[in-house]
Amino acid sequence: MGSLSASILGADLAHLADQVKAVEPFVDMFHIDIMDGHFVPPIALGAVVVASLRPVTQVTFHGHLMVDAPAQYFDELREAGLDIVSFHLEAVPEPAPAIAKARGAGMGVGLTINLGTPVIAVAPYLEDIDDLMLMSIEPGWSGQPLSPSVYPRLEEARRMIDAAGLQVALEIDGGVKIENAKAAVDAGATVLIAASGIFGQPDPAGAAEQLSMIAEGAA
Ligand code: DX5
Ligand code: ZN
Repeated sequence: MGSLSASILGADLAHLADQVKAVEPFVDMFHIDIMDGHFVPPIALGAVVVASLRPVTQVTFHGHLMVDAPAQYFDELREAGLDIVSFHLEAVPEPAPAIAKARGAGMGVGLTINLGTPVIAVAPYLEDIDDLMLMSIEPGWSGQPLSPSVYPRLEEARRMIDAAGLQVALEIDGGVKIENAKAAVDAGATVLIAASGIFGQPDPAGAAEQLSMIAEGAA
């Protein structure tokens, strides 16, 4: 029984509230990509966007921090209304202090890894996190095709989570579309994240509804 997370990076930001309201009935989370121009080349979104959007919806806000030294942003993001924060394992020398800081700030916490990082690298931290996000593209841009190399990585992560008897959510981020979503679920993903697969479609609400059914295992 999985869920759907809509990545607002793919929305028309001039009409963000309207776009969020249009897909809200079909999504379990909004995914907010935060980029600092260092960890990834672009600069995108941030606490001001979280704060502006917070009164618009009750749906969970999940921040995906593509930044160096992520922990310095946790307090302001929490204050702005973020519910769950994920940061990249590649961005920190050691994730434990940042995990503890996110918990201290009252947020759920997740780790994200790029396609080039071995899945086993997250094993020591699985017990301490709520979600594990596997990138299926190079982080930084919406609209890239999903790399099929993510499927065996999802399977490996699924085995690790199950073997440890944990309930860690397993998220896939990048290039998720109606055509490939079932393969991601079959490989073990419990949360599908989509930007262009929702907001780039002629009927974003219809696309979200279909993706949500696939995530739930109902289609
Ligand atoms: C990219 C972001 C993704 C992005 C996904 O760095 O982390 O969340 O919004 O976009 P699509 O679904 O279009 O690949
Ligand atoms: Zn993301």
